[in-house]
Amino acid sequence: MELVPLGPDFGAEVRGVSLVDVAASDGAYESVRAAFDEHSVLLFRDQQISDDVQAAFSRAFGPLERVKIGSEGAGTFYSRLHNTSPDGTLVPETHSQALTARANQLWHTDSSFKKTPALASVLSARVVPQQGGETELTSTRQAWSRLSPSMRSRLRDAVVTHAYAYSRDQIDPDLMTVSERTALPPVRWRITWRNPANGRIALYVASHAYAVDGLSDTEARTLLDTLITDATRPEFVYRHHWRQGDVLMWDNRATMHRGLTWPQDQARSMVRTTISAVEADGLADLRPLEPGARSPPVCR
Ligand code: OGA
Ligand code: MN
Repeated sequence: MELVPLGPDFGAEVRGVSLVDVAASDGAYESVRAAFDEHSVLLFRDQQISDDVQAAFSRAFGPLERVKIGSEGAGTFYSRLHNTSPDGTLVPETHSQALTARANQLWHTDSSFKKTPALASVLSARVVPQQGGETELTSTRQAWSRLSPSMRSRLRDAVVTHAYAYSRDQIDPDLMTVSERTALPPVRWRITWRNPANGRIALYVASHAYAVDGLSDTEARTLLDTLITDATRPEFVYRHHWRQGDVLMWDNRATMHRGLTWPQDQARSMVRTTISAVEADGLADLRPLEPGARSPPVCR
């Protein structure tokens, strides 16, 4: 296995090991897992990708999430991000699939709003538009290291509330149905996630985050905006230009990402599998000591 650096001090392209190798052998998994814990983002190029290959690879890392209610692929392991309908025609820009793409353009980390957050996401490119549609990623481990020692000690145990409704309401208050809102109540996590494999700490913030214990809504918004703005400064961002057959995997504990737009008269089709975090991935450290979430403010 060879690792070729990708982004500004994080991320690596994996050469000499395929998704099928990882699914088939413990040895290949262990090398790739070590690279994942170290580099946070891994790229595999020219993969013979299918849903089954993607799931078998992903399952080596832990239990797979089922796609949540209201998303394309709900109830299965495959989150389908595409702007086409079953008959192959492009969906209008007001369609929920198009709005979902817009919500993915906010910097986020996947599943921070779920009761069980995600260790990693695996995204494969099935149909790539001619222009645009890149995915950008940044290391929140580096963002954490850039904070001053006093800021780090102030924030180490801070508790943030995340809700899917909060990020979706910024795009369109009608994007989520009442049953989705009921199924996805706010959750609370520490603002840092420590990787037990190497002790590295990363900021755990995202577009779903809105409240910070002990701060007013305005103070919380200012703090979160400041942290996200610094984490996503262009010099700290890796922009991935997709080729068909690319598979990109990221550590949701230590990165944020966002999609970029593309001309809506062009098709784009991506499939994501998501691996749930388990205790060995550092969940105990992520959980705040005491419960009690506030409802998200309504955005209009
Ligand atoms: C995702 C995501 C962005 C993109 O799959 O989780 O945010 O560029 N994707 O498709
Ligand atoms: Mn995402």
